Amino acid sequence: MKVPFSYLERQFAVSGPGESPTLTDTIFEDLKRFVVSGDFTLGKSLVEFERKFAAHEGAKHALGVNSGTDALFLSLKGLGVGPGDEVITCAETFIATAGSIAQSGATPVFVDVNDEFTIDADRIEAAITPKTKAIMPVWFTGNAPDMDRILEIANAKGLKVIEDSCCAIDGAYKNRKAGSIGDAGGFSFHPLKNLNVWSDGGMITTNSDELAAKIALLRNHGFKSRDEVEIFGYNSRMDTFQAVVALRMIDDVAAVTDRRIAAARRYDDALRDLEGLIDIPRRSAHIRHVYHLYMLRVKDRDGLLRHLQENGVEAKIHYPIPLPYQKACAHLGCKKGDFPKTERDCDSIVTLPSHAYLTEDEISYAIETLRGFYGK
Ligand SMILES: Cc1ncc(COP(=O)(O)O)c(C=O)c1O
Repeated sequence: MKVPFSYLERQFAVSGPGESPTLTDTIFEDLKRFVVSGDFTLGKSLVEFERKFAAHEGAKHALGVNSGTDALFLSLKGLGVGPGDEVITCAETFIATAGSIAQSGATPVFVDVNDEFTIDADRIEAAITPKTKAIMPVWFTGNAPDMDRILEIANAKGLKVIEDSCCAIDGAYKNRKAGSIGDAGGFSFHPLKNLNVWSDGGMITTNSDELAAKIALLRNHGFKSRDEVEIFGYNSRMDTFQAVVALRMIDDVAAVTDRRIAAARRYDDALRDLEGLIDIPRRSAHIRHVYHLYMLRVKDRDGLLRHLQENGVEAKIHYPIPLPYQKACAHLGCKKGDFPKTERDCDSIVTLPSHAYLTEDEISYAIETLRGFYGK
């Protein structure tokens, strides 16, 4: 049996002769109507998608941009972060978190992770310097950082908070949706996200009218009107084409996410007794963890990974090299030993295929294959 990591072939299958239309068939029909309308740039469907996304994430404003990376970068720019500033973020994350900070001209300052794959909030204060301008906590794996503590620190020190909620569409912390808690939130619609488009796309959420107005300028060359340019900006609009695609999926995102969560719970329940071999991070009742990645710390990770892959279970590692030790970060002067928990994770984590499109049998097979490796 093969247990695929990617679900795109299943999600976007087209119907065969005589079969009822699939999601893809419906989107094709929408796109036919859209293409002949010529409404490509900041079009009506984008405005509608932004309205729906803002309502979905419980934020006052949502602005479509061309990727999650740009969502973070433009949020930083919009909040006035730039050269000479420092932004505190988590050492265990995808490169784009730190990349967006570097792109803004600011310096990423890494803080080690806790046991739940999010920033260790107790270590943030020690990383603050007179240059610190913002904190960028990451909803890594789809799990919420300790937002109460982070906001408390940020408020006391006058720092901005930009949530990297790229992995956490539909996630929540104490009944507040991802991206609606800090000053701004950045989301990704990359194909392997739980609301995914047919290329790249991103969204910035904010409750600030002022920031929304600034980002509306920044993402569109600084245009105030057709002929007036207020500031230098970027071409970073979300394609209306992608908004047409996303509009067909946004109403189902909670249900898709529920199925993702159900798959993760099946793994949790079936693996909990393997204590000592497998370390399942603590699950918190006040967090809606959306399991963008179903990640565990395991004994003999490389052996297990090989065993899973050889038996058709497409497990992966996110990510094997601590971000601060990547060559791109060499100028930051981080050294081995600075981030012990991130290092431990990079050597022991494995991501199992876990998503809304797996069958019960496939999950059972993945569980049996994993248990079999440990002779259980
Ligand atoms: C934590 C995190 N931040 C930022 C991004 C960047 O999003 P995008 O690929 O849409 O630029 C990703 C994408 O996977 C991510 O996982």
